[in-house]
Amino acid sequence: IPQDRLRNFCIIAHIDHGKSTLADRLLEATGTLTSREMQAQVLDSMDLERERGITIKSHAIRMRHTAEDGETYALNLIDTPGHVDFTYEVSRALNACEGAILVVDAAQGIEAQTISNLYLAMGQDLEIIPVLNKVDLPSAQPDIVAQSITDLIGGDPADVLKVSAKTGVGIDAVLQAIVDRVPPPGGDPDAPLQSLIFDSTFDTYRGSIVYVRVKEGTLRKGDPITFMATNAKYNAEEIGYLKLGMEPMPELTPGEVGYIIGSVKDVQDTKVGDTVTHTRGGASEQLPGYRDVKPMVFSGIYPTDSADFEDLRAALERLQLNDAALTYEPETSAALGFGFRVGFLGMLHMEVVQERLDREFNLDIVTTMPNVRYSVELTSGETIEVENPSEMPDRGIISEIREPYVTAQIITPTEYIGALMGLCQERRGTYITQEYITTDRVDLQYELPLAEIVFDFYDKLKSVSRGYASFDYEFIDERTSDLQKLDVMLNGDPVDALSTIVHKDKAYDMGRRLCKKLRELIPRQMFDVAIQAALGNKVISRETVKALRKDVTARCYGGDISRKRKLLEKQKEGKKRMKQIGAVEVPQEAFLAVLSMD
Ligand code: GTP
Repeated sequence: IPQDRLRNFCIIAHIDHGKSTLADRLLEATGTLTSREMQAQVLDSMDLERERGITIKSHAIRMRHTAEDGETYALNLIDTPGHVDFTYEVSRALNACEGAILVVDAAQGIEAQTISNLYLAMGQDLEIIPVLNKVDLPSAQPDIVAQSITDLIGGDPADVLKVSAKTGVGIDAVLQAIVDRVPPPGGDPDAPLQSLIFDSTFDTYRGSIVYVRVKEGTLRKGDPITFMATNAKYNAEEIGYLKLGMEPMPELTPGEVGYIIGSVKDVQDTKVGDTVTHTRGGASEQLPGYRDVKPMVFSGIYPTDSADFEDLRAALERLQLNDAALTYEPETSAALGFGFRVGFLGMLHMEVVQERLDREFNLDIVTTMPNVRYSVELTSGETIEVENPSEMPDRGIISEIREPYVTAQIITPTEYIGALMGLCQERRGTYITQEYITTDRVDLQYELPLAEIVFDFYDKLKSVSRGYASFDYEFIDERTSDLQKLDVMLNGDPVDALSTIVHKDKAYDMGRRLCKKLRELIPRQMFDVAIQAALGNKVISRETVKALRKDVTARCYGGDISRKRKLLEKQKEGKKRMKQIGAVEVPQEAFLAVLSMD
């Protein structure tokens, strides 16, 4: 198919607005697969993804479509992850496209990820095709929602496509709009090769499989290739298109989307955003925008049974093969023994990894409170990065601590504005702006320390807005804050895994509440357990778990675990994860106590 009949596009949407369902309909309408093959939503192949309804990794699929002009077009649908944790992956996937279908649920209206994804797409200069989905629903308000979309992106509300991905209404119009409105890709087949890696997966037998979009030049089967960011060299042993499976082809020309297999054993060589070129006569410059992804959120992961340490290492190694953004380093905790400090892109990424360790590898793990990375300037002039609160140096030798900040975008019905502002204020937020999307919906922007949202911000946001507010965030920079390390001691022994970094103004309150919560979570033992919180050498709070008396029936603990901590819920049913700290038995919940504090 000639270059001017290629169309590369993606679908962007807020979670649950129908991205996967629409993709299915497009595949079906173009005969790419039958409705029977469709039964499982094909683009979400991981079990976990289907359950959560979140597309975690991007994939691509090629469709053939005969348009109204009678010509056959090749349409490459590039799937993008929808969540902010994966912003960088989203932006690379968008960069492989010329157009984006913006799906908005006609009953729900614009939500936080609608806007954050739209901004990303506009930042890449993509042609935006607005689509209202779920017009079959009785609660759909197509006119109002169409108006609010054109308020954002311009144009006439009457031109917003109205579809039902469920019933199939309006699907042909979407295909025609892709042909008519998405520009064909540019690129010179004779130029030096530049192809963008927008995703990769790992196959045990064939090594890393990279998904690319050719921007310039032509890649032929067997060509020696170089990954420019790492300067790693391989041969393009097999190349081809991505259909339901992989379809080998002799060459990939400009504008094409496809895969390359080259016996790449080290996934670190195939980074999303990197450029693949020819080893001889290749491009001298990488495509713009490449960056190394850096984890933003960290947590200690320890085997409940220390004998499982090597199994945990093997599991993390396996996960990393398909997830280059995941980092891990062995660490030792006086309280928890041998484990790993694991780095994640964000909260969702963390939950997904923890859940996979539990489910796919059947590992019994204890996780510590998530924290962010701090840049600490010492009085000696040296700057260090602290990824584990217990490693925060003594205050005496610190001249400054910087912490990551994000901009948060909250979309909410107007009646919850006050409560949400209160929440942001309480989390050390700075108000930026507020804009009305419709008469009764507002886009609220705040700057917040990332540390304040890694805990339970999302749950709190949902509860103060009765589930109606949606939220997205993006890293902006690091800022100086007055932070302190809060330590916890059980019967006088410091428990390093319970150390947290808190803002000075909140330290006392936090210490008090943490001790209270721990008293609820730690079961009674044969002796009194003293729980103390300390700032430096100064104890600021104390609680006691009274020794068990014979006539007391075992007390139920761990009642109000936040909804997000599904992992913990599951534990409640079966085994209780306990860690022995000194003589004290401590349940897993205690290490996440901060999450369940009121
Ligand atoms: P994520 O993968 O979580 O981002 O969700 P998604 O945007 O891919 O949404 P998905 O396609 O999974 O659809 C979410 C829900 O909406 C599912 O229960 C669908 O069956 C339903 N749905 C999708 N399209 C329509 C539609 O046109 N009408 C109706 N009534 N329901 C729809």
